Amino acid sequence: MRHGVTLDPQEIARARILLEDARSILVLTGAGISAESGIPTFRGKGGLWRNHKPEDLATSEAFRRDPRLVWEWYAWRRELIARCRPNPGHRALAGWAMVSAGVTLVTQNVDGLHEAAALDVADGHESERAFPIELHGSLFRVRCTRCTYRAPDRKMVDASGHAALPHCPQCSALLRPDVVWFGESLDTVLLDRAFRAAEAAEICLGVGTSALVHPAASLPLATLRAGGKLVEVNPDPTVLTTLATVSLRANSGETLQRLLLGS
Ligand code: APR
Repeated sequence: MRHGVTLDPQEIARARILLEDARSILVLTGAGISAESGIPTFRGKGGLWRNHKPEDLATSEAFRRDPRLVWEWYAWRRELIARCRPNPGHRALAGWAMVSAGVTLVTQNVDGLHEAAALDVADGHESERAFPIELHGSLFRVRCTRCTYRAPDRKMVDASGHAALPHCPQCSALLRPDVVWFGESLDTVLLDRAFRAAEAAEICLGVGTSALVHPAASLPLATLRAGGKLVEVNPDPTVLTTLATVSLRANSGETLQRLLLGS
């Protein structure tokens, strides 16, 4: 967790008023919200993933060239992340979204921790709103490289050899992680839902994202262009900071609890 960042109560109060007065809110999260769950971010310190740069392996070319190496890397990520739990930031967001009308949660993360937090806090309540639009897919879903087969999958993958890699139960072709790779386009239906919510939002709450990778990073700009305001939670300044009405220079775990639950 990043140290040396402190919460300014006045700034928190300002941000709380903006959120309380807003009839529609878009929340965009990035890798930073999961940092306190022990998951490395992409561009912060320790942003390397087991000595591989995401840009080198999270591509369809890499998968075509060496599906075993790419699956080995994803199996490692899946194993690492399967041991991680939602942190107080995920849970505060899930609990707040569940009871707040007009909130749309969009995430760039593929770690499934928002969904896990929604299940944690739901205990039987209607938790639909707490489930995010997963713009970049999920590590815990697979899809076929040939047919339309797609399914949740949390099994540990044996990447010791090509024959052991997961294959489609429908057409026997190789399965791949259901994540968006560099150079691939995002699901247009999800993207359209996200941009409609961004354009309708009075506030965009950006949490733990460097806002450098588009089209996700264009969502806060869509809210601003439509006359909305931006609230940011990030221990470091980002390209959004100068555009934000309030920028909370702090870790998301404690900040979201104070901001959303007042605790
Ligand atoms: N709380 C909040 N934010 C944090 C924390 C924390 N505890 N720790 C780090 N951060 C911030 C960093 O300061 C940084 O601005 O989280 C941000 C993480 O930025 P990136 O690593 O660039 O992650 P993200 O913005 O999600 O990247 C977007 O790029 O590599 C692709 O597909 C990948 O979805 C990813 C996309």
